[in-house]
Amino acid sequence: MTGNPFAPPEDGPAWRRHPHAPAPGTALGRIEEIEDPGMRALSFGSGRRVFSMLLVRHGGAVRAFLDACPHAWLPLTWRGGSVLSADGRRLVCSNHFAEFDSASGQPVSGPADCGLDLLPVRLEPDGMIVMG
Ligand code: FES
Repeated sequence: MTGNPFAPPEDGPAWRRHPHAPAPGTALGRIEEIEDPGMRALSFGSGRRVFSMLLVRHGGAVRAFLDACPHAWLPLTWRGGSVLSADGRRLVCSNHFAEFDSASGQPVSGPADCGLDLLPVRLEPDGMIVMG
């Protein structure tokens, strides 16, 4: 396993220091734009410094995860396509097929020995998903 490319979390989660991490209050899209169950991958910035995240919808609830697999710190979506299982219950890394619970981000099976980073989002009354 290679090291986390982000600095150690000494003053909050490491992802907050990423130069392209969306600021609190950033609108991420509307819940009805995501299938139920379904997911949407979002990217901020470009190139090697891109910040990638996943939104996962289950009914009226939305979770957000950093799109970085803790097995080898590659994006779950590295090989493209949806990484949500057909039943919506698991996120499956496209690299070596680690599986994570799509509600908690905790590892379920495969080579990852820890879970996905859960990102704070909130759902506004009008259906807009907003970074927390
Ligand atoms: S990088 Fe995800 S399972 Fe290896």
